[in-house]
Amino acid sequence: MRMTGISKSFPGVTALKRVDFELSYGEVHALVGENGAGKSTLMKILAGVYRADEGEIWLKNQRVVPKSPKTMIDAGVSVIYQELTLIPYLSVAENIFLGREPLRSNGLIDWSAMWLEVEKLLAPFNLFLNPRSVVHSIGPAFQQVVEIAKALSLKADIIVMDEPTAPLTGSEVARLFEIIRKLKADGVAIAYISHRLEEIHEVADRVTVLRDGERMVTAALSDLTVDEIVSHMVGRKLTEQYPTVEFPAGDELIRVEGLTKKGTCKDVSFSVRSGEILGFAGLVGAGRTEIMQLIYGYRRKDAGRIFLRGREVQLRNTRDAVRCGIALIPEERKKQGLVLGLSVIDNSALSILDLNTSFGFIKWPAIARIVGEMVRSLEIRTPSLYQKVKNLSGGNQQKIVLSKWFARNCDVYIFDEPTRGIDVGAKAEIYKLLLSRARNGAAIILVSSDLPEVMNMATRILVVFGGQIVKEFRRGEATEEQVISCALGLERQSTVEALAAGAHK
Ligand SMILES: Nc1ncnc2c1ncn2[C@@H]1O[C@H](COP(=O)(O)OP(=O)(O)OP(=O)(O)O)[C@@H](O)[C@H]1O
Ligand SMILES: [Mg+2]
Repeated sequence: MRMTGISKSFPGVTALKRVDFELSYGEVHALVGENGAGKSTLMKILAGVYRADEGEIWLKNQRVVPKSPKTMIDAGVSVIYQELTLIPYLSVAENIFLGREPLRSNGLIDWSAMWLEVEKLLAPFNLFLNPRSVVHSIGPAFQQVVEIAKALSLKADIIVMDEPTAPLTGSEVARLFEIIRKLKADGVAIAYISHRLEEIHEVADRVTVLRDGERMVTAALSDLTVDEIVSHMVGRKLTEQYPTVEFPAGDELIRVEGLTKKGTCKDVSFSVRSGEILGFAGLVGAGRTEIMQLIYGYRRKDAGRIFLRGREVQLRNTRDAVRCGIALIPEERKKQGLVLGLSVIDNSALSILDLNTSFGFIKWPAIARIVGEMVRSLEIRTPSLYQKVKNLSGGNQQKIVLSKWFARNCDVYIFDEPTRGIDVGAKAEIYKLLLSRARNGAAIILVSSDLPEVMNMATRILVVFGGQIVKEFRRGEATEEQVISCALGLERQSTVEALAAGAHK
């Protein structure tokens, strides 16, 4: 596949300027760049979702003019979009075979054939996923697996993966890489977009770096170091990624005692003091998100008590939580963090509306000032405050979710995967903002599957396994291996075994 001289503009934005990109048989070609650099747009042009303003696409030495996504699917191009595109209330199997379900001779859907086929597709992932499960109930990591299975079932020659690993953790990423290697061996060409640059060296053969819609470089990965890639991306050298300052811990702001919910978590207790960053490590599905949602009053707990500044509070819903000074930055930005059809300013205003009204009228100038300041400090790429959030790039959408809660002064900030899909430069910005909240005396809870991130940013780290806290470390006390083995439940098992052995004696 060869794309030459591709340009694309949106109102107020030049997304791509004469970009070239190509894919050979059995090649993994990484596409990297900051948030808003134009990666997804380039791939959507390849997929026939957007029409390029200029430029050509060649497949197997034939020029193609994609009229619709269907032309490109038929031509063997399959895209796993950055934002999952599954239909939440259909099953895994229905999603994979949507529109091309296997039929019986009488014209009805052959369900058992479909389920069997799905099991075959999922087999290499080595995980238990029922083809009949409804997609919205299985969580983001499994949803990603379903997307990949769908692309595989289309038997595409070209697969585009737009940040496939964003919702995945270590072992799942390893599985994905195995699958990618198998696909490569079969001659499939893969365009691979990721902000996790270490991954790229592991999985890709070549890399193309985009900056502000322009191609900066295309080179074999053996010729470029991570630092060189980064400097092509941002046009400057980045200083240390994790700012490690620690603030003297003050009063206890939040204490959770014996938080329990059947099937979710059991006897979770912890406390966070002013100025502290408490990290929650664990695997996808360990129950971290659910624990945070219980605290935030988004779900009902079966048992447990929550104390804010030493006083017990009853949080019946999220409104109570916000009033008591808790903010939750959710992991699923599109569903839980944003109103996609509203503008940047409307979204950011949601968290501070109650503070910026007088006599029932919203004080828009004041809000515009606050939001404008946020957009500048987070370097959110948007043509104006009135752009609809759905038109922003994925990473910039994530920044809006953060800015929404940074705009409000809260005692407790709970961040659930705050830097998912965020480029290296902006990550450093977010860490700084996170620290500035801690410096101002807030208590921070950081849930992250990015191990280096939790281990470097958090003052203390709790490891969650199977809905329970299995271990606590102080910063610098544990190695990544130790944290992982706790997250896999191995550490606890060994203590249980040790206890059992002791009992035998
Ligand atoms: N439908 C659209 N309408 C208006 N602007 C758009 C649209 N789609 C993309 N853009 C703009 O084009 C630019 C490139 O966006 P794109 O989504 O390609 O970035 P990206 O490199 O994929 O970033 P990220 O890493 O954040 O996903 C951005 O400035 C974005 O706001
Ligand atoms: Mg993108």
